[in-house]
Amino acid sequence: MLGLNSLLCLLLFATSTPAQSTDGLYSLVKRRLPNHVDDFHFTIDKSNFTGTEGYDQFMVSSAPNGSVLVKGNSISALSSGLHRYLTDIAHVDIYWFIGSRLDQAPSKLPRLAKPIQGSSTVPWRYHLNTVTFSYTMAFWTWEDWENQLDWLALHGVNLPLAWVGQEKILVDVFQEIGLTDAEIATFLSGPAFQAWNRFGNIQGSWGGDLPRSWIDQQFALQKKILPRMVELGMTPVLPSFTGFVPMNTTRVLPDAQIVRGSQWAGFPLQYSNDSFLEPFDDNFAKLQSSFISKQRAAYGNVSHIYTLDQYNENSPYSGDLDYLRNVTLNTWKSLKQADPDAIWMMQGWLFYAQSAFWTEERIEAFLSGVEDNNDMLILDLFSESAPQWRRTKSYYGKPWLWCQVHDYGGNMGLYGQLSNITVNATQARIESSSLVGYGSTMEGQEGNEIIYTTLLSQAWSTTPLDTEQYFHDWVTTRYSGCGSMPRELYDAWEVMRTTVFDNTNTSVTSVIKSAFEIRPSLENIRVGFQSTELTYDPSIVVQAWQSLYQAASLEPKLWTNPAYQHDVVDVTRQVMANAFIPLYLGLLSAWNTSDSSSLSKEGDKLIDFLGDLDTVLLTNSNFRLSKWIKSARAWADGDNAQASFLEYNARNQITLWGPNGEIADYASKQWGGLISTFYIPRWRIFIQYLKSTPPASYNTTDVTSRLMDFEQKWQTETWTEPEPSADAENLEKVLNGVRSRWTTVFGER
Ligand SMILES: *[C@@H]1O[C@H](CO)[C@@H](O)[C@H](O)[C@H]1NC(C)=O
Ligand SMILES: *[C@@H]1O[C@H](CO)[C@@H](O)[C@H](O)[C@H]1NC(C)=O
Ligand SMILES: *[C@@H]1O[C@H](CO)[C@@H](O)[C@H](O)[C@H]1NC(C)=O
Ligand SMILES: *[C@@H]1O[C@H](CO)[C@@H](O)[C@H](O)[C@H]1NC(C)=O
Ligand SMILES: *[C@@H]1O[C@H](CO)[C@@H](O)[C@H](O)[C@H]1NC(C)=O
Ligand SMILES: *[C@@H]1O[C@H](CO)[C@@H](O)[C@H](O)[C@H]1NC(C)=O
Ligand SMILES: *[C@@H]1O[C@H](CO)[C@@H](O)[C@H](O)[C@H]1NC(C)=O
Ligand SMILES: *[C@@H]1O[C@H](CO)[C@@H](O)[C@H](O)[C@H]1NC(C)=O
Ligand SMILES: *[C@@H]1O[C@H](CO)[C@@H](O)[C@H](O)[C@H]1NC(C)=O
Ligand SMILES: *[C@@H]1O[C@H](CO)[C@@H](O)[C@H](O)[C@H]1NC(C)=O
Ligand SMILES: *[C@@H]1O[C@H](CO)[C@@H](O)[C@H](O)[C@H]1NC(C)=O
Repeated sequence: MLGLNSLLCLLLFATSTPAQSTDGLYSLVKRRLPNHVDDFHFTIDKSNFTGTEGYDQFMVSSAPNGSVLVKGNSISALSSGLHRYLTDIAHVDIYWFIGSRLDQAPSKLPRLAKPIQGSSTVPWRYHLNTVTFSYTMAFWTWEDWENQLDWLALHGVNLPLAWVGQEKILVDVFQEIGLTDAEIATFLSGPAFQAWNRFGNIQGSWGGDLPRSWIDQQFALQKKILPRMVELGMTPVLPSFTGFVPMNTTRVLPDAQIVRGSQWAGFPLQYSNDSFLEPFDDNFAKLQSSFISKQRAAYGNVSHIYTLDQYNENSPYSGDLDYLRNVTLNTWKSLKQADPDAIWMMQGWLFYAQSAFWTEERIEAFLSGVEDNNDMLILDLFSESAPQWRRTKSYYGKPWLWCQVHDYGGNMGLYGQLSNITVNATQARIESSSLVGYGSTMEGQEGNEIIYTTLLSQAWSTTPLDTEQYFHDWVTTRYSGCGSMPRELYDAWEVMRTTVFDNTNTSVTSVIKSAFEIRPSLENIRVGFQSTELTYDPSIVVQAWQSLYQAASLEPKLWTNPAYQHDVVDVTRQVMANAFIPLYLGLLSAWNTSDSSSLSKEGDKLIDFLGDLDTVLLTNSNFRLSKWIKSARAWADGDNAQASFLEYNARNQITLWGPNGEIADYASKQWGGLISTFYIPRWRIFIQYLKSTPPASYNTTDVTSRLMDFEQKWQTETWTEPEPSADAENLEKVLNGVRSRWTTVFGER
């Protein structure tokens, strides 16, 4: 086993991208702080930072003439230093959903009395799960990416996954071995499902084939993303050849050793059981070289770190130890042959998700195939809830990153495990000598931004962050620029910090979804995976809501502050999502006692309530179904058939997830427009069924098939924007109305 020093040398070598120019940072300032282009000076200075090799260090100070001088030993150090100045001193930041607020910085930048210094405690800060590319970014434009990349740079991320557009390279590789377009089409999945195709869970596309124009457009997007990552000091993690191939590869490579991967999540054979070219087959290395050389020709020499997952929720063909070692040994050799500097990055999810298969013995054999530890980086994907690094003795010496999943399927719910991501992340760094980074591996980047920034900030502190201080400072920056800062804003976040955002109940491990998003049944309350059960007293969120609401009555400018608009809708959403549970239980109980008039009343109440939640969500574009659908359709460039296909993909992912609801409601969303057109009609069907069926005759199959008929029809509809009512976007008015109709929900007597 190599020591940490030689390990870091290798990592450093891998990251020493030629671009040490600070131009990217000046461009960032120009984009986001156009009034301050001459006020920031960036200098890369390796000699004055003499800490441990491989760690990033910065120092920010004020020059006598008022300029802000940012010095550091890497581009990422500089952008992190810039961020510290902007948030802590100028009180502005860039956010998900609401975008950049950096242009709100004071016209005369505040002077620093003494320099701010920072040192990272880990060499790598990673961001993105493979599936985030489908759940969140499937239809992102370059503008969305630009915002994301500036966010990443400023938050010190230096190792982002760069997974857009790889189908172009893959198709070229497949064509080269003689596969036809029709054969390749049986393999590629739809625009909203590419992540699972890329690691062999699914193949093919339901509702139509993946259009060639999509492949080309995504490739063009990747060509913009990569240079931007590099100029902002990030090492992109690139795709590689995994071994998953179209079924008819046996036609063109008749002697190739190809096995059918396992069937995933109940998908029919046509869409699952992907063909896997065994890495010890000579063709594997050939295809790997072809893939990587084509990729290098397209993008340049931008990175040597490759993401490659073969058994993500797929069982290996054999559990034999020699076989497992053989797979990794030959996969590793194929990478090194294609790129002598290659480092293989792998998501460690399999060791948790299929822990019965992945015994310590098998994991050790599997990892031992990569004979040089420094040629691998493992993401301990779900460290906050199901860490695997302990049982694998820190992955038997392979460098690994402590990562937070936090969210499944882009589900929406206020949630966090604050103590865990500060205390346990710190503890892991101290205990494990092969821990080389922290990262966010959320399935969907759907909210709770403060929880992600906390972990990224933890990467610059040797002790667990003081989260009370962190939340306080975050609030100051979040709502800055609206005059006074009522104490109530701080109160709202503080009351949630130690409760909603600090779950320590190990039976709930990720974002909590609401019972109304799940196909109606007698069992909409769940605990455990994608729990609907809360880990805190729901009155806490009501209290936070009252504080936020009160803040705007003290400082009415808040109503026009985009961060406030977003957050008050988000917290209202949570108050109402939580209040759905008693409504649902009331409905079941009325039905169970065969009291038809109370059943009718409870049913109407539940529907009205969801309608009001829909109205609240529609006030903010970030909480609208139409945003998702329009972003999908926009990629069709006016081609109607293609727009319909894209819309089908967008609708299917968040509802049925599969041609026939294979993992229905997994990626459900609390969005305006989705509640009114999808969830409410489902609840109506269910309530109607209850009205006509006494408890003794309840038939699950019957209910499900009635709901499924509706759900299937919904998949192929075309979104039509409803006529906006005069007050649809008047948040204050909408909230007042909803609050006065549901006084007890909002804590008023
Ligand atoms: C480096 O540090 C030395 C000693 O503190 C100082 O004199 C010099 O100005 C620094 N150089 C830069 C480029 O900051
Ligand atoms: C302010 O001072 C800095 C550092 O000495 C220098 O680089 C910069 O050019 C000066 N700016 C102006 C506007 O004079
Ligand atoms: C796959 O190959 C078989 C012949 O081996 C051929 O009949 C079939 O049409 C091919 N499939 C596709 C989708 O082209
Ligand atoms: C599909 O996968 C399942 C589960 O691993 C397996 O039992 C079955 O044999 C596979 N079928 C084919 C045709 O590969
Ligand atoms: C690519 O980068 C590596 C290290 O970063 C370097 O050794 C190699 O020479 C570069 N290759 C080309 C073709 O520029
Ligand atoms: C391991 O791979 C080699 C080729 O590299 C192959 O000949 C051998 O059969 C494989 N062994 C096992 C156990 O699969
Ligand atoms: C962090 O999560 C782990 C795994 O669920 C658990 O054992 C531990 O108690 C948690 N720690 C805290 C401080 O919540
Ligand atoms: C997390 O930290 C808590 C508190 O220090 C500790 O009790 C627990 O064992 C840790 N869990 C893991 C999985 O590291
Ligand atoms: C954890 O949360 C679940 C769901 O709310 C609850 O049933 C359980 O009692 C809680 N466990 C503890 C130890 O609080
Ligand atoms: C209906 O009532 C019976 C008897 O009290 C109870 O066992 C059952 O769990 C109830 N079912 C529902 C759906 O509330
Ligand atoms: C339940 O409904 C299904 C579908 O309507 C029907 O085929 C089945 O016979 C019903 N089961 C019972 C026990 O009535």
